Amino acid sequence: MAGEVRKITLIPGDGIGPEVAGAARQVIDALKLGFEWEEAIAGAGAVEKYGTPLPEETLESIKRNKVALKGPVTTPVGTGFRSVNVGIRKALDLYANVRPAKTMAGINSRYTGVDLVIFRENTECLYAGIEHMIGEDAAESIRLITRKASRRIAQRAFEFARQTGRRRVTAGHKANILKLTDGLFLEAVREVAANYPEIAYDEVIVDALSLRLVVDPTEFDVLVLPNLFGDIISDLCAGLVGGLGVAPGANLGDDAAVFEAVHGSAPQIAGQNIANPTALILSAALMLEHLGYTAEAARVHQAVTAVISEGKWVTPDLGGTATTTDFTKAVVQNL
Ligand code: NAI
Repeated sequence: MAGEVRKITLIPGDGIGPEVAGAARQVIDALKLGFEWEEAIAGAGAVEKYGTPLPEETLESIKRNKVALKGPVTTPVGTGFRSVNVGIRKALDLYANVRPAKTMAGINSRYTGVDLVIFRENTECLYAGIEHMIGEDAAESIRLITRKASRRIAQRAFEFARQTGRRRVTAGHKANILKLTDGLFLEAVREVAANYPEIAYDEVIVDALSLRLVVDPTEFDVLVLPNLFGDIISDLCAGLVGGLGVAPGANLGDDAAVFEAVHGSAPQIAGQNIANPTALILSAALMLEHLGYTAEAARVHQAVTAVISEGKWVTPDLGGTATTTDFTKAVVQNL
């Protein structure tokens, strides 16, 4: 696909979203790949203009272009509109949440050499939202696990391992207790694993997995987990390598992909030009990889690493005094 002119949907989001999205766009533009950005709106701004946080136009744009780069969007707690992120994920069936966790020079972490990629199932498990009250004093939530969803997340994880030369996939689970649901999850992952004999496969109970990740995260390579465990383990892994400000992510389906940072809209620091755009710039690098621009993705990664390890132009969250603009400029210069 490399070499084609292509359109990418850009959702700036709100809070620090427009600042970090602008930074990521600037870095990608500096590569001169001839991308065209199609800006689309979501969140509070969209409610004012369209009466909904996730206008049909925005979804149509992603469907048409198949790829989007998205800044964070504020989700009001309690009342107000439903989560834009969940809305996008559901509408486009983005069933795989992929989160790399890699140590980077210059970022405070007590580990070195961590290079993990987490594949979290993104559509079911306890997050299917099948809940109800039983009378007034009890509530029940149904944990839905299907063979189809478990197989396709496993397929993504193993295919990624094969294509990137990784050696091992580990499934995290609680099948010792959740015998039917996680039992089915493991059965599906094993079926997929059988098609990848060159990749080692093992299974670790999720509580032991948490412990082993904290003791020595370099022990692991690719992790595949059902939704809830995947959510928790991926934040844990972000913490192992330096926190939210530097954690990129991707939401992949069969027909579309949305790349976004793990962090939120950080309203307290919005508009001050001090947000760290690293996570979204690295998410844009994941997008480049997805589009087949592997060398360019590596250049972005190296430029970000160079600026962070030099330490001169880093933002306050990383202990520096530079602005978002300064950091971005330095990354562009290092490309
Ligand atoms: P948050 O990630 O926005 O902020 C947590 C802490 O990290 C804050 O102290 C913030 O200032 C800091 N922080 C986050 N990103 C940063 C960056 N790039 N540079 C420097 N500091 C950064 O999480 P919070 O406060 O729980 O959520 C705020 C809003 O964002 C909520 O409405 C939430 O629903 C939404 N959110 C949206 C997401 C998305 O659109 N993908 C993901 C997570 C939260």
